[in-house]
Amino acid sequence: MADVSFDKAIDTVTEFQNGTVNPTLTDGGSGVASILSVLKSLSYWKISITFLCILIVWDQLSYQTKKGTCVGPRWKWYPIIGPFLESLDPKFEEYKAKWYSGELSCVSIFHKFVVIASTRDLTRKIMQSPKYVKPCVVDVAVKILRPNNWVFLDGKDHVDYRKSLNGLFTKQALEQYLPGMEVIMDKYIEKFVQLSKDNKYKPQVFFHEMREILCALSLSSFCGDYITEDQVRKIADDYYLVTAALELVNFPIILPYTKTWYGKRTADAAMKIFEECAQMAKDHIAAGGKPICVMDAWAKLMHDAKNKNDSDSKLYHREFTNKEMSEAVFTFLFASQDASSSLACWLFQIVADRPDVLAKIREEQLSVRNGDVNMNVTLPLIEKMDYTTMCIKESLRYRPPVLMVPYVVKQKFPVRDDYSAPKGTMLIPTLYPALHDPEVYENPEEFIPERWVEGSKASEAKKNWLVFGCGPHVCLGQTYVMMTFCALLGKFALFTDFKHSVTPLSEKIKVFATIFPKDDLLLTFKKRDPLTGKVYE
Ligand code: HEM
Repeated sequence: MADVSFDKAIDTVTEFQNGTVNPTLTDGGSGVASILSVLKSLSYWKISITFLCILIVWDQLSYQTKKGTCVGPRWKWYPIIGPFLESLDPKFEEYKAKWYSGELSCVSIFHKFVVIASTRDLTRKIMQSPKYVKPCVVDVAVKILRPNNWVFLDGKDHVDYRKSLNGLFTKQALEQYLPGMEVIMDKYIEKFVQLSKDNKYKPQVFFHEMREILCALSLSSFCGDYITEDQVRKIADDYYLVTAALELVNFPIILPYTKTWYGKRTADAAMKIFEECAQMAKDHIAAGGKPICVMDAWAKLMHDAKNKNDSDSKLYHREFTNKEMSEAVFTFLFASQDASSSLACWLFQIVADRPDVLAKIREEQLSVRNGDVNMNVTLPLIEKMDYTTMCIKESLRYRPPVLMVPYVVKQKFPVRDDYSAPKGTMLIPTLYPALHDPEVYENPEEFIPERWVEGSKASEAKKNWLVFGCGPHVCLGQTYVMMTFCALLGKFALFTDFKHSVTPLSEKIKVFATIFPKDDLLLTFKKRDPLTGKVYE
């Protein structure tokens, strides 16, 4: 019997689909008939609107459930999409308003639920909880940096790989890269002066030049002489395509001639060059050569490990392939390029706007060299540059290049006693508020290098120093950054007279992956005699 009614129902549905059913004739007014009757009366647009309404209600309910005690809009005012349009053009002031709205605040964009943590302690807690979170990357990053790249490793695999990379950024390793970097600095001193001269010493935008010099410095320290000047120029020129491709909001499929396509093409071309460099470094070290760049240092560590059995050497017992080395070096460039360019722009602007600070830097630079201005920059020399170091630290505090670091929740995470972030939440610890905490940094909106003297409140407050993050993913390049910028600022202060043109937008912050002055930095450079201070045109 049951089979008969089932067959009948099937027939009825078929008739309904064909539009030939008469619901009143079926099964003596049974449930099926009445459902079919309702369905029949619905047009496609009614079905669509019902579906949309269900979706909106579900989206709002899901937002309410996840929101819990976080501060955030009562409802998603723009259903489904949330503040998607604002996220396409992020504004510093909007971020700031969000951070100061509550220690945990939230938004929901499409199905993505985002929680922002804006106190020092919550930021530290998140960054130091690898059991619950891992760095969150936009989908397209996996395609651009390639899925097997070490940066996507998690947990123990990440810790182990990271240990082998730490060896490339120790002080002893970094010292080997300095001579090559100094050559680049000298070249760019000439170049910047010439650019200003060609422009009749009228202020001009230096945002792009700052990105270029930082790219050239990174590539010199990563690849030494194995990379040609043309290759450096090409990567420096094209690199912004990678930054543009990795915006937080992007189309997940790489279509030809879109931003992501150009970004991937640029990354692939750079990685191909790095692969060739890796082989040249291995050959150089095998032939008994001295390491002068990251690739060499890596090849040397592998080479030496063959005859040693201590725990450090064991990390290099396996052969890292050229492809693997090239992908890792690309992540160094990727991690360094935007953040370092941001620091360069703010540092030059800030120091140029404060002649007393610049005068002190110059005095220190002459004094550490004992008046020998042609002395090469070495690590011991840099270690004596206390005031210059304080200026760089203060610039990093005052205008931290990285404002926030997105993580993703792997399993329900009790972030605060009264709030647990559900699995899949994008959890974003912020760095800026901790670095502008008035309890630790008096007058936080002022640039005061002296606040960093040894033993001061600021220098003792290690927990607030979040410029480079903390926990297992803490920045690999932090010592490199301090070393590079001491050398760079010191040399430019001695050998050039740089002036900044202040505009109403100079102190305003533009967000482009990291942060930059909104007017793109208007500078002029003139040649300067480091001993007499005489300026040449
Ligand atoms: C001013 C310049 C820089 C700033 C402000 C900066 C800041 C940061 C921050 C905030 C993180 C995330 C840390 C975390 O999640 O806890 C990070 C990660 C990282 N940085 Fe930097 N960085 C800078 C330059 C560099 C340079 C020059 C390099 C390489 C030479 C580098 C390599 C890395 C790498 C590889 C990571 C990921 C580490 C991991 O996942 O284990 N960074 N950086």
